[in-house]
Amino acid sequence: MCGIVGYTGTEAALPVVATGLKNLEYRGYDSAGVALLDDTLDVYKSEGDIDALTLPDTHSATTGLGHTRWSTHGQPTDANAHPHTDCTGEIAVVHNGIIDNYEELKAELVAAGHEFTSETDTEVVPHLLEAHYDGTNLRAAVQAVVERLTGSFALGVTAVGAAELVVTRQDSPLVLGRGETANFVASDVTAFLEYTRDVIFLEDGDIATVTADEITIWQGDDRVTREAQTVDWEADAAEKAGYEHYMLKEIHEQPQALRQTISGRVDVVNGTADLEFDLPTNYLQSLDEIQIVAAGTSYHAGLYARRLLEAHADVRCTVEVASEYEFTGGRDPWRTLVVAVTQSGETADTLSAMRTAAAAGARTLAVTNTVGSTAAREADDVVYIRAGPEIGVAATKTFAAQVTTLALLTVAIGRERNALGGDRASTLLENIRSLPGAIQQVLDDADRVADTARELADSEAFFFVGRRLGMPVSLEGALKLKEISYTHAEGFGGGELKHGSLALVTADTPVIAILTDGANPEKMVHNVKEVQSRDAPVLGVSSLDDAESVLDVTFPVPSLGDLEPLVANVYLQLFAYHIADALDRNIDKPRNLAKSVTVE
Ligand code: G6P
Repeated sequence: MCGIVGYTGTEAALPVVATGLKNLEYRGYDSAGVALLDDTLDVYKSEGDIDALTLPDTHSATTGLGHTRWSTHGQPTDANAHPHTDCTGEIAVVHNGIIDNYEELKAELVAAGHEFTSETDTEVVPHLLEAHYDGTNLRAAVQAVVERLTGSFALGVTAVGAAELVVTRQDSPLVLGRGETANFVASDVTAFLEYTRDVIFLEDGDIATVTADEITIWQGDDRVTREAQTVDWEADAAEKAGYEHYMLKEIHEQPQALRQTISGRVDVVNGTADLEFDLPTNYLQSLDEIQIVAAGTSYHAGLYARRLLEAHADVRCTVEVASEYEFTGGRDPWRTLVVAVTQSGETADTLSAMRTAAAAGARTLAVTNTVGSTAAREADDVVYIRAGPEIGVAATKTFAAQVTTLALLTVAIGRERNALGGDRASTLLENIRSLPGAIQQVLDDADRVADTARELADSEAFFFVGRRLGMPVSLEGALKLKEISYTHAEGFGGGELKHGSLALVTADTPVIAILTDGANPEKMVHNVKEVQSRDAPVLGVSSLDDAESVLDVTFPVPSLGDLEPLVANVYLQLFAYHIADALDRNIDKPRNLAKSVTVE
């Protein structure tokens, strides 16, 4: 995710802001920038490493803002880096999150004569501020502008004439730090931990004005008090927001990541999804087939999507491991859409499959997390999953964001092909919109998963079983467990286990079963009985009312139709994590594995 740091005090701001940017590097970024406020405003920004940012050796400003950008709208370029300024160059803004209605705001501002210099959603904010700022009351201007914005954002603002920082948040974290002769703002406490541990976490809708000696917080026209807290994390723990590993942090980030994935893309009332791509209606209507190519966890997301596309978009869909891909689009290759699902956008096998498809004459669409990646640049069209950077080698939040994006793609294509009626589309979109809350319910049950995982950590092997949409989740559950715990694990379609691998099932091989909507739970019950009669303990992730009567241990999944298996998967992530933790494995960097595999 992007990072924000700001300082206002009695000393020079530049060294503090520069240190803050370094502290935020762990979050992942593709560009960085700084705004320094004196009698004038100076802005320095560029694509690439913080070290590539040309900053003056010294600067007299005592107020400054810094930003590390992880692109969501517009490529990683110098112009798209933050801070962004208005036409006068006297107002600077840094932003995390997504402004959903930026296109209409931008059109309005351009019509009013404002000149834009970037492709970002963020840049509407300084231009709107320019229209509202009277040269002294920056808070009032921010208040007026925020009322016009929809989406998720944390904003940091400074302007000539104001000698302060004004910050506000909506669905995106922001924290203030209190010092002796200075105050700080940041997207997370790591940014300023060496200066103060005395912090105030802002709440949605708060607007704070921050000067060297005072912090004032407002909700609308009312002043509010937020309790200060002392953070006792060490820097390393703070990078992980207090979690022991990045993987656990990323598992817990899933509700927030999915809010970003969904933001501005869902219209439940009209039953439509807008993924900002250019696939023409007549092309989608004439499609014979969608071929998904991917590797590892992304392949499992593709398997999930296949069922959704076939059920709701009435299009034949195949999913192939990218390294095994050969184009089979027949005589009309342009009637085949090849969808490359890749978190990094750099997996060599997936790029190679995309190139094979393009050379054969098929149209390609990349579904990726990484703006400016090779897949994003080479594909005919691109859709971003907007999960934010993932640092743990084992993919977690990006799997959830991939499946969610592909579910949105299903609605978009299904509607264009007239295969999906408005009511069914609205139900699916309502379920997509409920995903963050449903996943939060699972996360609230994390302690129970940890207890069960610790009890079973020394088991000989684990088997995961699920049907239909539960099948890719069973494969993903097994992959997660084996890659970080080094314990043998296999995933199966529920009916397939008995065709061979049942020979391995004993009292020392726990079975994890997926019994949810979208996963043929009635048939799964028979498969559960099969393994129970071989003495295997059966853990189930289930939305069935009477699950306890069938299972040895039950983890409840909230009701969410075809998305229940995706929610159930969060239990499997936690289960894998806690087994690996009990076995003291190198969870964020498992042996022999890489986050991005750039060789075939
Ligand atoms: C590696 C990673 C996996 C990932 C796979 C595909 O094996 O360790 O977590 O699923 O590559 O990566 P991609 O970036 O293409 O999704």
